[in-house]
Amino acid sequence: MTSAILLTGGTGTLGRLVAPHLRPAATTLRVLSRQARASADGIEYVTGDLTTGEGAAEAVAGVDVIVHCAGTSKGDDVKTRHLVDAATAAGRPHLVYISVVGADRTPVVSGPDRAMFGYVAAKRAAEVIVAESGLPWTTLRATQFHELTLTTARAMARLPVVPAPAGFRIQPIAAAEVAERLAELALAGPAGLVAEMGGPRTYDMKDLLRGYLKATGRRRPVLPVRLPGKAAAAFRAGANLTPGHAVGHRTWEDFLAGRTVPA
Ligand SMILES: NC(=O)c1ccc[n+]([C@@H]2O[C@H](COP(=O)([O-])OP(=O)(O)OC[C@H]3O[C@@H](n4cnc5c(N)ncnc54)[C@H](OP(=O)(O)O)[C@@H]3O)[C@@H](O)[C@H]2O)c1
Repeated sequence: MTSAILLTGGTGTLGRLVAPHLRPAATTLRVLSRQARASADGIEYVTGDLTTGEGAAEAVAGVDVIVHCAGTSKGDDVKTRHLVDAATAAGRPHLVYISVVGADRTPVVSGPDRAMFGYVAAKRAAEVIVAESGLPWTTLRATQFHELTLTTARAMARLPVVPAPAGFRIQPIAAAEVAERLAELALAGPAGLVAEMGGPRTYDMKDLLRGYLKATGRRRPVLPVRLPGKAAAAFRAGANLTPGHAVGHRTWEDFLAGRTVPA
């Protein structure tokens, strides 16, 4: 089936990896970005900002499928609301959304929860907006990408003492593997909430950080810090993990070593 496809977040870590899978099947592949970009590599760029809704109507015009990968640490609910409103006015495109494992299991209630876990709450709110949009939809939840894990580890490793949220574990996955699945879902029919995707192994945060420090030749103490609040308690209980769906093939060690792993 060929379709006109809008990819939001197509300039980001995940979206850049989704685009090549969509291109062969798309009559038009359009990417929405906040920056003006010249069309290239079979991609038509439109300028817009989902936080304000500017450019959303132009972005969704005439598309059959929207793959919604635009996201930041804040306000993914607002961005998704603007996209859904524009898509609804334009027709009935299939909306494919990427969310995070644990979005439905992480209660974000208090001030400290909001400060640390507002991202997860916004992802959950965005999931609900998608499901209640009246559009045909598919939502995939994935665990944290290796790419983000590396960015976090690098930032932490610069500190003289490296704080590690006590009792937190992560199950990182290669963004490329999530991208392939997301594109497959986009090119199939609407499926609602599909089986989530997690990486092949689970790591205690402090062990992962110690491993990273060792691998990069740094000597720093890692200090476990107990985070307050219900959301942190949910993470300590494993809300962000999906051991029953450890479907990723590329481990964190493979990623750090630059190894590609066949599926
Ligand atoms: N990173 C993870 O570990 C992880 C795990 C599970 C799910 N996810 C989800 O996967 C999605 C992509 O994550 P990522 O790591 O690829 O993010 P990323 O590398 O930070 O890229 C973010 C993308 O969102 C676009 N964007 C941001 N704000 C926008 C706005 N106001 N209007 C329009 N576009 C906007 C950016 O486009 P421009 O800068 O070109 O405007 C960029 O393409 C997010 O929804 C995220 O929640 C991420």
